[in-house]
Amino acid sequence: MPEESRHNITLVTCTAPVNIAVIKYWGKRDEDLILPINSSLSVTLHQDQLKTTTTVASSRHFKEDRIWLNGKEDNINQPRLQSCLREIRRLARKRRSDGDVSTESLGLSHKVHICSVNNFPTAAGLASSAAGYACLVYTLARLYGVEGELSEVARQGSGSACRSMYGGFVQWRMGERTDGKDSVAEQVEAESHWPELRVLILVVSAERKPVGSTAGMHTSVETSLLLKHRADSVVPGRMTEMISAIRQRDFAAFGELTMKDSNQFHATCLDTYPPIFYLNDVSHRIIRMVHCYNAHYGHTRVAYTFDAGPNAVIYTLEEHVDEFVQVVKHFFPPENNGGQFLKGLSVSPVSLSEEVKTAIAVEPTPKGISYIINTKAGPGPCMVEEPSLHLLGADGLPKQTV
Ligand code: DP6
Repeated sequence: MPEESRHNITLVTCTAPVNIAVIKYWGKRDEDLILPINSSLSVTLHQDQLKTTTTVASSRHFKEDRIWLNGKEDNINQPRLQSCLREIRRLARKRRSDGDVSTESLGLSHKVHICSVNNFPTAAGLASSAAGYACLVYTLARLYGVEGELSEVARQGSGSACRSMYGGFVQWRMGERTDGKDSVAEQVEAESHWPELRVLILVVSAERKPVGSTAGMHTSVETSLLLKHRADSVVPGRMTEMISAIRQRDFAAFGELTMKDSNQFHATCLDTYPPIFYLNDVSHRIIRMVHCYNAHYGHTRVAYTFDAGPNAVIYTLEEHVDEFVQVVKHFFPPENNGGQFLKGLSVSPVSLSEEVKTAIAVEPTPKGISYIINTKAGPGPCMVEEPSLHLLGADGLPKQTV
């Protein structure tokens, strides 16, 4: 249990990862509890490249609950934030009434200050709500000494957040109950299971902010028959196939299913009325480039997936990263002053053969991709022990604001 300092303030800091689904969650059967219409499966990305850090402070001197996101104070009264706070406090109270004395020193009636930052630009359009809610729930749980199944709480912040409560390969079972108790995330395999797997995030320059996932999936559930068919008849089989591809480290099966599932998700968006378009011209060119590249080699070496925006996430194996990054650079030449086009794990420069270039029937698109993040699967949330890394000071206020 964290201890109250001499300033009568208790501080806990944790970090949590982003996850990228290979079998997509799209559609809720209960919007308040965030219960999905289908199960889903994702890979948790390594926190060295993408993570949220959250500090929670508790003190009897705080007058109200407050939250700062990326340096700016935000609205603590958002219903989803309130659900997470209420649920964790309820679990803490339950623990205490069940006789756990270790949490007694921490006043459950004390207000909290929450401060959260991402180590990646929010403007990049990478799903940050999953890491954000996972981190909030994990940090609050550590503060109050709550253990056990927390994905059910994170789910109530943002559906995909429940999968960020674990590292490696994670499934979110949709569950059957109306109270959501069985709609939880579960690790399929740890990150160490498939060390060669790599993830390249191609950050596509976008001119407009797309429709948010919450609003988008609401309209899809109301209007798309294809979505219903997907949830009832396609996803159950795909979950089984995907789990077995992962267990066997069968990249061809994993990659093909990943691409098909991304395509079907975007097809349900087109089937939504009015239709939702998340992919742009650059996304379409990336899809084409990947298929030409795989066709050239006669097997699936790289696979794309797209969420509610134009960025591509590429899954591949370590041995293909150098060449594929060169392919991306060739067809999406970066700006001349370049800046840092490649972030994350290192990539070695290689030269592309003429055969590969001519096999890819795609028009080069200068500056279509802003930058690439090279990463891999990683662990779930963890606590930061070093006190100097708290985002809130001894006065309970952010050390840095914008
Ligand atoms: C396309 O979890 O952001 O990324 O539950 O309404 O917060 P809410 O939605 P959210 O939806 C994510 C949708 C997706 C697919 C996925 O991550 O499975």
